[in-house]
This record gives sequence, structure tokens and C-alpha cells, in this order.
Amino acid sequence: MISKVKQADRMKRIHLSGIRKVFEKVAELERKGAKITHMEIGRPDFDTPSHIKEAAKKALDEGFVHYTASVGIPELRKAIAEKLSRDNGIRIDPDRELIVTLGANQAIFLCMMGLLNPGDEVLVPEPMFVYYADWGEFAGAKTVSVPLREEENFRVRAEDIERCITPKSRMLILNSPHNPTGAVLNRDTLAAIAEVAKKFDLLVLSDEIYEKMVYDGAKHFSIATFPGMTDRTLTINGFSKAFSMTGWRLGYVVANPDLMSALLKVHQHTVVCPVSFAQKGAAAALTGPQGCVDKIVREFDRRRKLVIDRLNEMEGVKVARPQGAFYTFPSIKETGRSSQEIADYLLEEAGVAVVPGSAFGSLGEGYIRIAYSTSYDDLEEGLSRMKAALAKLRS
Ligand SMILES: Cc1ncc(COP(=O)(O)O)c(C=O)c1O
Repeated sequence: MISKVKQADRMKRIHLSGIRKVFEKVAELERKGAKITHMEIGRPDFDTPSHIKEAAKKALDEGFVHYTASVGIPELRKAIAEKLSRDNGIRIDPDRELIVTLGANQAIFLCMMGLLNPGDEVLVPEPMFVYYADWGEFAGAKTVSVPLREEENFRVRAEDIERCITPKSRMLILNSPHNPTGAVLNRDTLAAIAEVAKKFDLLVLSDEIYEKMVYDGAKHFSIATFPGMTDRTLTINGFSKAFSMTGWRLGYVVANPDLMSALLKVHQHTVVCPVSFAQKGAAAALTGPQGCVDKIVREFDRRRKLVIDRLNEMEGVKVARPQGAFYTFPSIKETGRSSQEIADYLLEEAGVAVVPGSAFGSLGEGYIRIAYSTSYDDLEEGLSRMKAALAKLRS
């Protein structure tokens, strides 16, 4: 008799994160006493600014510890609506078009589960933030990769999206600034993509979690503000990156009110509501001084320049100039090794943790992702060790 004590069949199509695999390996080496430079972690290394922590502490002290409205507390929803209007030009009714979620991740999951039918196709530029594909799988949808090209600095092109469209295409995912490549889409590219979305009646999920991290004069644009795009765009954002609040688990989704009840059903039936006192902190993040964000972004830019300069000096490495997020995605093709082999080698030989490009889909093969979300000094040291290790590999 076949035992019924087993996993659901659909879990066979869903993967654990390749990035988490690197974390675990690194943690094991550190337990054994190894000193590792962390260039794998996609999280700012700064503390959450103190006024945000104070607001959450005050909320706890005042007993703000119970369930809140599923969509989030009014104070935070108002602050998000004001932020969207101020920073993005997106005007919303916070009572009808917004849900506060447990991080941007949960916001994306709500959209996939609430809006996709089995067999629908989701267009995702690849290399990609891999969770997108797995969340689609939960909904029974199929991920269709839109290849990104190094020679285009990994910016997705409207014509490449159009080429991948079939009658089953339902949703397009955009992520600008982009994880893992650091690419930023300019206004003209977004305008051309908006035309494709309208022509083929696509939903567009715009993951804008890295919006504040743009450099070299690049600007972030929200596709929801382009003509005819408001109702078909799901704008995703959160607090993890700009305010260094990854552990607070707070994000949000903005959607057309006709789609909201589907998202709310998934939200209520999974998490009920976001964490009460954390929401008070997030409200303070948006209504308080924004200098803390500028400071974080300036430091990332300083590190970005260091990383690009140093990578350019390394043997077998070629790097496109990223304009956003806190990642670079250098090619290691000239080494003749796979991205997994290079990542393993760098960890063992140089004590440097990076993520193999293959963790971002098969089109990420030939590259590694370097996150510059560790201190400048650590980066300098790690990059020197990396340079020596790659030179050794060559000889
Ligand atoms: C592209 C992208 N979207 C979403 C997230 C998740 O953000 P959050 O911590 O708000 O869930 C990340 C985190 O690394 C990311 O890289």
C-alpha cells in the first residue's frame, strides 16, 4: 500500500531557493570557524533607523499588540498613499486599492494566487528573482522566460517581450531596478513595454522594491503612471531595502479595486493581517525624515564603484555597469567554469560568498551575482582575495 504520509504532488514542481542554499553552506563554514566575506546576501547591512524602531517600541509599550485590519492600519495606508503620490506620481484611494503585506514577497504571492488561472503564462525577464517562477507554479501558471542580454546591459526590450507572447500570456513581471543584474529601465523602454501590455491585454506586475537605489543619474519610473496602465498594473513595493527593514516583513500591493477582493481572500486566509506594532514603525519610516534613505543609497553607490573597479581588474571577469539595486552580475564565462564551480571555488579558496548565476534561472549561467550589501572594508578585503584566487585559477 502506498503511504498517505507524504508531500503534495505539486511540491515536486516547486524549488527551495538557490540563494538560501548558499546561505546554509556559508553558515556551516562559519560554524567551523571560517571567515567569510558576504557578497551573497541581498539585504542592506545597516541597522533600521532609530526613529522607526522607536515608533514600533512605543506601539508595543502602549499595548498595540492585537490583530489589525487585514489591509493594514489606516495611518500606514494613508502614509503609503502619500508616498506613492509624492515619489511615484501614483494616486490611489488607500481604502480601496491597497493591501499592506508581509514583505513585497507576500504581495507578489497574493497577485499570483489571486489572479492567475492554471495554464496561464507569466512572462518574466531572465535571469530573474527566482521566486517569481515558483509562485507562478503554486497557481498552476507557467513561467515563460524573456531572455535578457548582457550587451543591452540586461535591460529587457519590448520587442523581446512581444516575441514571447502567446494566446495564453496573462501577466508580465517587471523588476526595475533589477535583481540580480542591477539594470534600470528608462522611460522610453517602459513606454514601449506599456504599449505591448495594452496591445496584448496583459496584467503587469511591477516589483519596485529597489526604486530608491539608482545611480549615475538614472531615474526610476512607475509603469502604472503611463497612459492606460493604471488598471492593469500591480505595483509592488516595501520597506525591506530602502529602510533596511528586511526582518520587519512589511510591503504592499496597489491594484485596481476590481482585483482587490481576490488578493484580499488570499491575504486573509494566509496571514490575516500584517504585524501590528511593525506597521507603526513603517508609518514612521514614511512620514519621518528621509535623510536615512539618502545615506544608505550614497553608501551603496560608493561600494558599487569599488566593486566595478575591482571586478574590471580581475582575470576572466567582465562586468556590465549596473545602475541600480545593490547587485552586479559579472560574466565569468572566460574562466571556462560553470557559475556553481566558480561560486564553490571562491568560497573555498578565497572565503568569498557569491551566488551562482544559475540560481536565477538557466539564462543566469555564465555569471555570478555579487551583492555589495556588506561594509566597504569587508568588500575591499574580499575583492582582493577574489582577485588573487581567480589569478591562481588562471595560472
Ligand atoms: C526583486 C525582489 N523582490 C522582492 C523582494 C522581497 O522583498 P521583501 O523583503 O519586502 O519581501 C526581494 C528581496 O530580495 C527582491 O530582490
